Amino acid sequence: MSNPKKNIKNVRVDYKKSNIDFSSVTSSPFDLFNIWIKQAFEVDKDNANAFVLSTVSKDLIPSSRVVLLRGFTEDGLVFFTNYNSQKSNDISVNSNVSANFFWPQLEKQIRISGTASKINKEKSDEYFSNRPLESKLGAIISNQSSVIPLDYDFIAKIEEYKSNNTSSSIIRPDNWGGFIIKINLFEFWQGRPSRLHDRLCYNLENGKWKVSRKSP
Ligand SMILES: Cc1cc2nc3c(=O)[nH]c(=O)nc-3n(C[C@H](O)[C@H](O)[C@H](O)COP(=O)(O)O)c2cc1C
Repeated sequence: MSNPKKNIKNVRVDYKKSNIDFSSVTSSPFDLFNIWIKQAFEVDKDNANAFVLSTVSKDLIPSSRVVLLRGFTEDGLVFFTNYNSQKSNDISVNSNVSANFFWPQLEKQIRISGTASKINKEKSDEYFSNRPLESKLGAIISNQSSVIPLDYDFIAKIEEYKSNNTSSSIIRPDNWGGFIIKINLFEFWQGRPSRLHDRLCYNLENGKWKVSRKSP
C-alpha cells in the first residue's frame, strides 16, 4: 500500500484532454452547460449530476456538501432536500449559494453562483411521487441534520412506519422539497497543460450574459 501523504505531495496530472475554443463561445451559458453535462453523463452515468452546494449560515460560516441536480432550465438548477436541514436553514437566512461540478474524467469544472429559493409545492409533490418507495420513506423518517443517538435504528423506524401506513398514503412531507438556484455567474474551467487552464465566465448583468475570460 503506497503512502497517501507522499502521494498527495507528488501526484501531478498534466491536463490535456480538451480545451475551450474562445473564438466561438456560445452566447448562452446554458448551451455550454448542456453540452458539458451531456459529456459528463457519457463518462459517468451514475454521478454526473452530483455537485457541491455551498451555503453560508447566519453566523457567516460557510459549509459545503454534495447534492444531486434533478433538473435544469434557463430558470435555474433544481435539487431536492429536507427543508429543516442545515443547508435549508442557511438558505432561509442567506439565499446566496454556490454550486460546483467537477468531472475529473473530463478535466472539467463548472463554478456557479446564484440565489436559491423553494420551488412550488406542486413540483415537489410531482418529484416526490415518482421517487422509489425506499427514498420516500427515508425522506419521511429522517429529520435531516438533526442530532440522533449513535444507536438510532432507522430500519426499525421504517418497519414501524410501514406497518402503520399503506404505500398509497405516503405523501410528501411538508418539510421536504425542491430548491431552484437562479444563476448569476458561471465559470467553465477546462484543465490544460502546464497549469495554463482555460476559464470562461458568464456574468448576468442587467438581464444579459456578459462573457469574459480569466487567467488560470
Ligand atoms: C453523491 C451524493 C448525493 C447526495 N444527494 C443529496 C441530495 O440530492 N439532497 C440532499 O439533501 N442530500 C444529498 N446528499 C447528502 C448531503 O451531502 C448532506 O449530507 C445532507 O444533505 C445534509 O446536509 P446539511 O446537513 O448540510 O443540510 C448527497 C450526498 C452524496 C455524497
